[in-house]
Amino acid sequence: MILRAALAHEAVVLAAIHAEAFAPSDRWGADAIALMLDAAGGFGVLALDGAPPFGEEPLGFGLARAMAGEAELLTLAVRPAAQRRGIGRALFGALAGQAKTFGADMLFLEVAEGNLAAHRLYTTAGAMEVGRRRRYYTDGSDALVLRLALRP
Ligand SMILES: CC(C)(COP(=O)(O)OP(=O)(O)OC[C@H]1O[C@@H](n2cnc3c(N)ncnc32)[C@H](O)[C@@H]1OP(=O)(O)O)[C@@H](O)C(=O)NCCC(=O)NCCS
Repeated sequence: MILRAALAHEAVVLAAIHAEAFAPSDRWGADAIALMLDAAGGFGVLALDGAPPFGEEPLGFGLARAMAGEAELLTLAVRPAAQRRGIGRALFGALAGQAKTFGADMLFLEVAEGNLAAHRLYTTAGAMEVGRRRRYYTDGSDALVLRLALRP
């Protein structure tokens, strides 16, 4: 697996991964993804299987933005067939590392209360629960707000 920057012109590929990983009500379209990557402070990381010239299969990606010393994880998605192989953890680590190079001290993220896989990934990476947004998601579930310190 290789990790590299996800680019706005790849938004259609990223949206296809997002559609595989998320329920229909939570899917993001290519236009929204391209806007996030083009926005000030926006960046992304893409995980690929293999390398040129033998082909590169996209496996997952994450988007974040960093501004004024803080960063926010916007989304993280790994194709179902590629899950549980360490790709989500690698993407999260790469996004956190990138946020740090952009000057962020803290990375914030929201995760649905019932999303045990993502919650476990983030907390085992060191993120701590710092708040709750009631009925944040379209299905009425709460979001937990987590914060990862990027510097000691
Ligand atoms: C959450 C998600 C990104 C994890 O990606 P992944 O590549 O499968 O995760 P990893 O293999 O790197 O797992 C890292 C850790 O997360 C936890 N984890 C991941 N999947 C899990 C599952 N199904 N059940 C329990 N814990 C899980 C484990 O602690 C795991 O470490 P371990 O394998 O050493 O036990 C992926 O499941 C996904 O895309 N889900 C749908 C979209 C989503 O919910 N995104 C997050 C929104 S906040």
